[in-house]
Amino acid sequence: MFVSDCLGVNGAGRLTIGGLDAVELGSRYATPLYVMDEDEIRANCRAFLRGMKIHREGRGAVAYASKAFCCKRMCRIAAEEGLWLDVASGGELHTALEAGFPSGRIIFHGNNKTAADLTLALEAEVGRIVVDNIFELGLLDHLAKAAGKTACIQLRIKPGVEAHTHEYIRTGGVDSKFGFSLESGEAMKAVVKALGRQSLCLKGLHCHIGSQIFGTEAFRAAASVMTELFARVKRETGYAIPELNLGGGFGIRYLPEQEPAGYESCIEAISRAIAESCRALNISEPFLMVEPGRSIVGPAGITLYTIGAVKEIPGVRTYLTVDGGMADNPRYALYKSEYHMLLAARALAPPTGAYTVAGRCCESGDLLGVNIALPRPAVGEMLAVLATGAYNYSMASNYNRLPRPAVVMVGGGGSYLAVRRESFEDVARFDV
Ligand code: LLP
Repeated sequence: MFVSDCLGVNGAGRLTIGGLDAVELGSRYATPLYVMDEDEIRANCRAFLRGMKIHREGRGAVAYASKAFCCKRMCRIAAEEGLWLDVASGGELHTALEAGFPSGRIIFHGNNKTAADLTLALEAEVGRIVVDNIFELGLLDHLAKAAGKTACIQLRIKPGVEAHTHEYIRTGGVDSKFGFSLESGEAMKAVVKALGRQSLCLKGLHCHIGSQIFGTEAFRAAASVMTELFARVKRETGYAIPELNLGGGFGIRYLPEQEPAGYESCIEAISRAIAESCRALNISEPFLMVEPGRSIVGPAGITLYTIGAVKEIPGVRTYLTVDGGMADNPRYALYKSEYHMLLAARALAPPTGAYTVAGRCCESGDLLGVNIALPRPAVGEMLAVLATGAYNYSMASNYNRLPRPAVVMVGGGGSYLAVRRESFEDVARFDV
């Protein structure tokens, strides 16, 4: 009913997260507030790991894509659960290292890594650097040689499979800023180049076909296209590339009626596709890696807001304004993303109207949703937006110099601060 397992309703009819009363959390820590359920995050990590254990007999690893939600606490949770970590910038890498994440399990991404980024990654001795283009291949080889190190790399491939929520398309995949195209022959050339570089060790091939993907078909298609490339490399160079990294993209439920495939079934479907394809191609199966982001943290989070003015424009619409908006959740403004919302103190009250939920930025597009079915809200009530654990805090901004909200974690029946709320002083801190 409430899109995530960690949500419920208590005897007072209030929304709960991790068993704790959302209204009490909002009052105690103030709104706007991100609340994340640590147990749900851990359960999601374990679902992927279980899939790898059962369907790959352990020949697989799960890397949490930290771009979905990055802070030290989250890096520590991923480390404790035995995950690898995908970082896509120097800042994410720095956060991971500060959190004590084992560097050998870090995968460093980015389509335009600077020499400084690559140097940081080499110094930290990250487990894998995913090379995006030929320029970077040469630069990394040069930097690694100068540092007297060998960089373990994966090559980012455009497999020509692109997935959007419900379906996937075979595009040929040339027009993307990420990676080497398979179709143009660029991918094979990159493999040969990488194999010839002394300071690079080609560990794997990587692809990422999209985000918020519901079925398993697109993943199966990507797995089979990629294993064909593994076979071709074996045939033409004699080298058996050890790892296949299929990226992230596993869909989550934002709306009650949505039905994403379970994480374990995704791993099962991918494993089957790899096994079938490798058998047909007569090659041994590579070690499998996946990089889920949204699916680990998305369902675990909610955002709590306090409702301000409710503005009825007769014959047009009714605006419900909250004390946050596009600065803490830009996803509606960017993608028209839909969310399930409810009044935290009356979680089961039937809707009586449709509301356009607006934030407090000086921008007409500052909306969190339109035609949201809700009971008539009172000023001062709390609005809960569900499944906001991914790409909300991580994409938040200080537009209009709004301080970013705190992130509170709940778990084991208690709550604690994972990221403290910014103050006005924080917002002006870097001004010279
Ligand atoms: N690996 C790579 C190389 C990626 O580029 C991404 C996401 C992931 C893994 C994790 O994908 P996930 O499992 O979270 O779908 N800001 C957008 C999502 C952008 C995803 C970018 N790459 C949003 O808010 O929907």
